[in-house]
This record gives sequence, C-alpha cells and structure tokens, in this order.
Amino acid sequence: MEHFISFDDITPTEMNELLNLAADLKYQTQNRISHHILKGRTLGMIFAKSSTRTRVSFEVGMYQLGGHSLYLNSQDIQLGRGESVRDTAKVLSRFIDGIMIRTFSHSDVEDLAKFGSVPIINGLTDLMHPCQALADLMTIQEHKCNLKGLKLAYFGDGNNVANSLLHACTKAGMHIAVASPDGYKCDARCVSEASEQAVDTGGSVLLTEDPFEAAEGADVIYTDTWVSMGQESEKAERVRIFMPYQVNAGIMDRAAEDAIFLHCLPAYRGYEVTSEVIDGPKSVVWDEAENRLHAQKAVLVKLLR
Ligand code: CP
Ligand code: NVA
Repeated sequence: MEHFISFDDITPTEMNELLNLAADLKYQTQNRISHHILKGRTLGMIFAKSSTRTRVSFEVGMYQLGGHSLYLNSQDIQLGRGESVRDTAKVLSRFIDGIMIRTFSHSDVEDLAKFGSVPIINGLTDLMHPCQALADLMTIQEHKCNLKGLKLAYFGDGNNVANSLLHACTKAGMHIAVASPDGYKCDARCVSEASEQAVDTGGSVLLTEDPFEAAEGADVIYTDTWVSMGQESEKAERVRIFMPYQVNAGIMDRAAEDAIFLHCLPAYRGYEVTSEVIDGPKSVVWDEAENRLHAQKAVLVKLLR
C-alpha cells in the first residue's frame, strides 16, 4: 500500500490487515497501552471543505501514535491563491511524511500522489470517501462478527459515500443494494469495479429505484445526506426527489430483525433519516464515528511507519 485514495486500490488481504490492525489499535487505546509507532512523523491535512470527524480523528490519531499533524485550510495556503497541486505536492513532500486531503476534485488527490513523493490519503472528494468506508466495515464487523455474506442497503444519493461503500462491501464479500432515483445513481466506474470485485469475493451489487426492494432482509441499513458539500444550491430540488428514499420505520421493518443502522454523519433528521431510527436501538452511528479514529490510525501506521 503506497496511498489510500480509492478503496478499489487495496486488495482484500490489505483490507483485512487494516481491519485487524484497527481492532488492535482500538484495544490498545481503550486499555491505555501507549503505541507511539509514528514518533517524529508529521501528517499535513489539507481541507478545502468543512469537517468535524475527519479533522479531529486524524489529528487525535496522529497524536496518539506519537506523531504530529498540521491543519492546512486550502484557503490559507497558496493553493487557495492558485499555486498548482503539482508544485504544492513537491514542496510539501520536502517537509512532511504524508498528506491527508479533503477536496472537491478527485483528480487533484491523484495528482498529489503523482507529483509528490509521500503517501496520500483521501479524506473525501466529490467521488469517494474511502476512510469512511473502512470505519463502516470495522463497525459492521464489531456488531455482526463477520462481513462475508451480509447485505448492506444504502438509500438516497449515489454519492461519494455510496461509491466507496460499493468498493468496500464487495471487497469484503458482502451484498450491497443501492436504492437511488434516476439521475442520482452511483458513479458508473465504481459500479463496474465493484461488480468485478464481487465476482471474486462472492458478493453482489444491486442498483434499484425501489427502496423496499433494497431494504428486504438487509443486515445493515445505511444513508447519507441528500445535499453533499458543494450542492447547497440544489437543496429544495433534492429534498423533493429524495423524500421517497428516507430511512424510517417502514424501511427498518423490511430489514432483518437484528439489522443495524449506519450513517456517516453529519445527519439531517427528518430528511434522509427520521430521529426514531437514528436515535433508536438499532442505530450504531456513534460507534461508527468513533471507529473513524481507529480505522484511520491503521491507515496511518501502514503508510507512514
Ligand atoms: N463523516 C465525515 O467524514 O464527517 P466530517 O465531514 O465531519 O469529517
Ligand atoms: N456526502 C457527504 C459526506 C459528508 C461526510 C458530503 O460529501 O458532503
């Protein structure tokens, strides 16, 4: 593993190694066993979009691993005034040991990797959110013991979170059903990569416009905001289009009896999910948020050690 940009870039073996390492690091953190594996290492964190979980979990993660992190708001560095991604990559590579970036264009992250000489971690682009998907698998594994053969149903916008879930679930041999309206489907390339992966792992991909078909017998019910960062002007239209895909008691009733509910957060109650579901007994969203820390520490150890 050189970078963590797309979940599709890692092998199922590497994925399992990350999940095992994340579980070990979680155990050590909870038992106050110090693990300063990254002493003397520095991670630069470029943010062109808002963040609570990603920013805090990476910063705390580096601290717990004995390293240091630098928060770089893209508007405060010369990148925001037009310095190229290429030059930024070359310069930062001379100072720091790895870069985590949250931005709009996925190709900017790929260019950082192409022109820089340090590991690059994708902290979310318009296309993908692989760190979230890793924490999601970790959370599902904790609650369901294993991953292979489980069904995850995703509802709403076929966005960055959904695209990375397609990659992650099929890598783990899971069945993923995505219910989204016409015009808001997952990225075609991610769908085809996931479908190819599923052939090898015994998983499957189902795309449907029928939320009840997706929910049928699912072990994991998942949703995300209908209005991703950068789409604020489309809010009214999106709310109208996505309302039939809301995760509510009716959807949960179609899922398996012991289904769990996941949401990457931030959540908008009354829109993509009702408070009855997200604040109810099947919701594991706080475990999921916590696992961002442990999962990303595993990525940091793999890449920056
Ligand atoms: N889920 C997630 O990435 O949250 P933040 O936007 O708060 O980082
Ligand atoms: N799809 C959301 C995820 C936020 C973590 C967005 O891109 O805004």
